[in-house]
Amino acid sequence: MTSSSARPARPSDAPATPTPTAAASGRASGKAILLGEHAVVYRRPALAIPLSALQVRAEVRRSSGPSHLHSDLYDGPLTAAPARLGPTAMAAAAALEAVGAAGESIDLRIASDLPAERGVGSSAAVAAAVVRAVAAAFGTDLDAAAEHDVIQRAERVAHVSPSGLDAHAVRADAPIWFEDGAVSPVAVAAPLTFVIADTGVAGRTREAVAYVRRRHDEDPQGTTVLLDELGELTREARTHLATGDARSLGAVMDRGHATLDLLGVGDPSLDELAATARAHGAWGAKLTGGGRGGCVLVLIRDDKSAAEVAGALRGAGAAATWTTTVEATT
Ligand code: PMV
Repeated sequence: MTSSSARPARPSDAPATPTPTAAASGRASGKAILLGEHAVVYRRPALAIPLSALQVRAEVRRSSGPSHLHSDLYDGPLTAAPARLGPTAMAAAAALEAVGAAGESIDLRIASDLPAERGVGSSAAVAAAVVRAVAAAFGTDLDAAAEHDVIQRAERVAHVSPSGLDAHAVRADAPIWFEDGAVSPVAVAAPLTFVIADTGVAGRTREAVAYVRRRHDEDPQGTTVLLDELGELTREARTHLATGDARSLGAVMDRGHATLDLLGVGDPSLDELAATARAHGAWGAKLTGGGRGGCVLVLIRDDKSAAEVAGALRGAGAAATWTTTVEATT
């Protein structure tokens, strides 16, 4: 999928011209980065897969008076929302601006399956669902580029200099290749099953990105070696996806985990879950997203072993697990 052929901004069940009290909705899904996190901030390529089992749904009603947010994390006026919801408040403001309704009031309701701060794209997915719901509520179709801009404004509140990968990945329904700001489709020769396991430790993307930036400033040569290695692994992963070589893809994921650890974005909680997955026969496992906590992404051998590996991961302390399949494209 390319950025220009992203799915339509307005879901088909949303009314074209809502009455002032009608609710309009927007959805987006989670994502996992298969290879290339952090290196993508330095213009290396990245590969991401959709986590369609994890969805965010936003509902917007046009209202009068101050805008309100209703969610599990907070219920009240948007202007008084806690700092951690800054990206959501920015998504709402930027979406209203994008549809030519800056300063108008809305009632925004968010329901999310996605754990926040776990490297599975929660902030970008919420922003994507919000911009779609706002566009539907104001009877406007935003193109993929306009949606992307709104999500990126929200992501900048979340972690200052987002590469743009998440903003694309949460709107994709198949794996994407992201390089030089552009998205292209990925050939997948055989279906693959992944288990995602949450360490229960909040990921610290903002801090991890800032750490890599400092390290790059202080030791450009040493850091470049690691970023180049991550870029190379991402290219190798694309080849293994295209040839259906799951064993080699798993080995590349293991090397990706080790390289991210050397970069300084690992955490013992991630190492432990990755080691558990490998000990239970997974082809490979790595941290996914910003790191320093969050989730591991595990490539398992076949559908049958998914439940066993997921059970072992929960036994080793995972707070939650999800299973997702990437379909073959050929
Ligand atoms: O932790 P997440 O899901 O926000 O992913 C961050 C990915 C990084 O490559 C570390 C940052 C970026 O902007 O791409």
